[in-house]
Amino acid sequence: MGLLDFLGDIVVFVFPDLVNDKKISHKTRKIFLALLVIVSLCYVGIFAFCIFWGIKKDNIVLPILGILGILLYLYRLLKTAKEYKESQKKLDKKTVMEFFDNFAHIWDNEPVADKEIIDTILDNSGIVNGVNVLDIACGTGVLFPYYLERNVNSITAVDLSPEMVKIAKNKIPQANVICGDAEEISFDTSFDCIMIYNAFPHFPNPQTLIENLSKCLSVGGKLTIAHGMSKKELDEVHKKSAGKVSNILPESEELANLLSPYFNVDITISNDEMYLVTGTKR
Ligand SMILES: C[S@@+](CC[C@H](N)C(=O)[O-])C[C@H]1O[C@@H](n2cnc3c(N)ncnc32)[C@H](O)[C@@H]1O
Repeated sequence: MGLLDFLGDIVVFVFPDLVNDKKISHKTRKIFLALLVIVSLCYVGIFAFCIFWGIKKDNIVLPILGILGILLYLYRLLKTAKEYKESQKKLDKKTVMEFFDNFAHIWDNEPVADKEIIDTILDNSGIVNGVNVLDIACGTGVLFPYYLERNVNSITAVDLSPEMVKIAKNKIPQANVICGDAEEISFDTSFDCIMIYNAFPHFPNPQTLIENLSKCLSVGGKLTIAHGMSKKELDEVHKKSAGKVSNILPESEELANLLSPYFNVDITISNDEMYLVTGTKR
C-alpha cells in the first residue's frame, strides 16, 4: 500500500513536468498524460471515498481532507492538460493574416519598445554599415528607420498581412517589401542579417521557418530572434489578446536548440527587458 501510494505521488507530482517537457517525444508525453489522468482519477476516487466514510462515521476531518485532496489533484490535472493542449495548438495562417490585417491601421500608434532596447537588439544582431538586411514579419516596418540610421546597404522585408505590407511600403522608399509567407519564401540572393522582431510566436512551424531562413543567409550571416519585452510579459499579452494567433514563446535555451542544426548560437538573453537569441550560419 505504501509503495502504491509512493508511486501514485510520483505520477501526480512528477508527470506534469514530463507531460509538458518539449524535449520528450509527442508519443511519450501522451503516455505520461494518460498515466497522469488514470492515477489522478484513482486518487479522486479514494478521496471521494474518504468523504463518504467520514460522513458515515461522523468524522469531520476525513471529508475536509477528501475535498482538499480532490481539489488539489483536479487542479493539477486540469492545469497540466491545459498546458499540454496549448503546446499542441496549431496556428492557422489565414487566421493570423486576418488578425494582423485588422490591426495594421493602428499598429504604429503604440510603440512596442523604446529606442534603447531596440538599439541593444540591433547592436547584437550585426546590423551595421553596408549589410543587406532581411526583416521577417516586418509588420508596418517599425525597424526600417533604425536600419537606415545604421547605413545598411539594403532592406528587404516580408510580411504575411497585406494590410501591414501596404503601410510598410509607404514607410521608406528604400525598402523592398514583399507580401508572403516567411516559412516558404525563397530569394535569388542571400542576406547578411535576418531579423525576426516581435513575431516569432506567430509562426506555426518554427523549425520549418528556421530551416528556410538558414537558406536565405550567407555563410557567416546572422539570424536574430528578438522581443522588446520579457518572455513572461509577452506570453501574458498574447494570452490576453492574441491567444488564437500565438504560441508560447520558447525558453531562450529551447530556441537555441532549434537553431543549432544550422547556426552557431552566439547570444541568448532572456531578462526583464528583452528576449534575444542570435546565431551565425555555419
Ligand atoms: C506582432 S507583429 C510584429 C510586426 C513587427 N515586426 C513589429 O515589431 O511591429 C507580427 C507580424 O508577423 C507577421 N506574420 C505572421 N506570420 C507570418 C508568416 N508566416 N510570414 C510572414 N509574416 C508573418 C504578421 O502578419 C504580423 O505583421
